[in-house]
Amino acid sequence: MEYGISTAGSFSQDSSQRSVPEVLFQPSELGILERYSIIKEIYKVQLSPTIVSLAAHNDTKQAVIKKSIRKDMLIGQTQHDYARQECIIQAQLKHENVVELYDYTENEKEFVLLMEYCNDAGYFEDKIENRLTPIKNQEKLQQYGFDILTGLSYVHSQGIIHSDLKLQNALLQRPSEDDSQAGELPVVKICDFGLSHLVSETNGKAHMSYRCGTNGYIAPEIKPKDTLIGPEIDMWAFGVMLYEMCTAYKPTNLSNYRYGSGPIPFRDRDWKKHSKHVQDLILQCLQVDPSKRILPEDALQHPWFEQTF
Ligand SMILES: Nc1ncnc2c1ncn2[C@@H]1O[C@H](COP(=O)(O)OP(=O)(O)OP(=O)(O)O)[C@@H](O)[C@H]1O
Ligand SMILES: [Mg+2]
Repeated sequence: MEYGISTAGSFSQDSSQRSVPEVLFQPSELGILERYSIIKEIYKVQLSPTIVSLAAHNDTKQAVIKKSIRKDMLIGQTQHDYARQECIIQAQLKHENVVELYDYTENEKEFVLLMEYCNDAGYFEDKIENRLTPIKNQEKLQQYGFDILTGLSYVHSQGIIHSDLKLQNALLQRPSEDDSQAGELPVVKICDFGLSHLVSETNGKAHMSYRCGTNGYIAPEIKPKDTLIGPEIDMWAFGVMLYEMCTAYKPTNLSNYRYGSGPIPFRDRDWKKHSKHVQDLILQCLQVDPSKRILPEDALQHPWFEQTF
């Protein structure tokens, strides 16, 4: 397996797991921030160390995203290590379905990531979680699912478990009007590697010290402390995302359903317009036993992607 992570450096995610590859944290010189001007803040919430702003390069005017992680709001060394690791991991990932990190730096107040800007980043969150509108267009649904799985397959091939896959971390990039007329489709890109884990070369697993992720997306095998996790946890989260895209709610929103307490509920009236194939793919993702869960590569071969509408 290839990891795409430099093995020369001194930072490892979890000192209790020696088999995790050591990686190099190489922030750029501080001067890089002076080359960008902030246009507007786009994400700032209470109690979060993260501020995301739209910025532009002073000379080229290229739009970029500046993500600042404020050190005074990080609790303990572990959270500092996660922030460092976010920079290292994202810097190594280059794929059309993953948000590209152009550069990163660190000063006494913050870690700063400069990355590719997605022009309709809030699309899934706004439509599905805020406006409670499912995606009815089956071709779009297929395309979004395909993009996320393609990105995820690449991320896993680099020895990385995203560990916080959810609608808010799937950003949409829409083509310009000209490109759209020429047939170019929107592209989904995976972002936010702030909770990611590097797998060990020996067993393909990573040690998760404390349960992390987002409620409703956390795979059932993740224990409160000390879980040996595999990339399968991301496929569970993907299953929840796909279910949400189809219905605008998570399975756990239905009459207090709890994962593992019975078959995944599919309420007839919400699935009339959707194919049986997409339901089947969701079921293969939401297998409680991680060894039975479908892998991204196999999911990309699922008959749903062959279906025409
Ligand atoms: N490349 C990008 N292009 C456009 N918008 C972005 C980009 N990256 C992040 N955002 C916006 O900022 C939001 C927060 O970014 P991100 O997910 O990286 O932070 P976070 O680590 O989740 O923050 P928190 O610490 O609060 O959990 C995203 O959900 C998205 O709306
Ligand atoms: Mg996020």
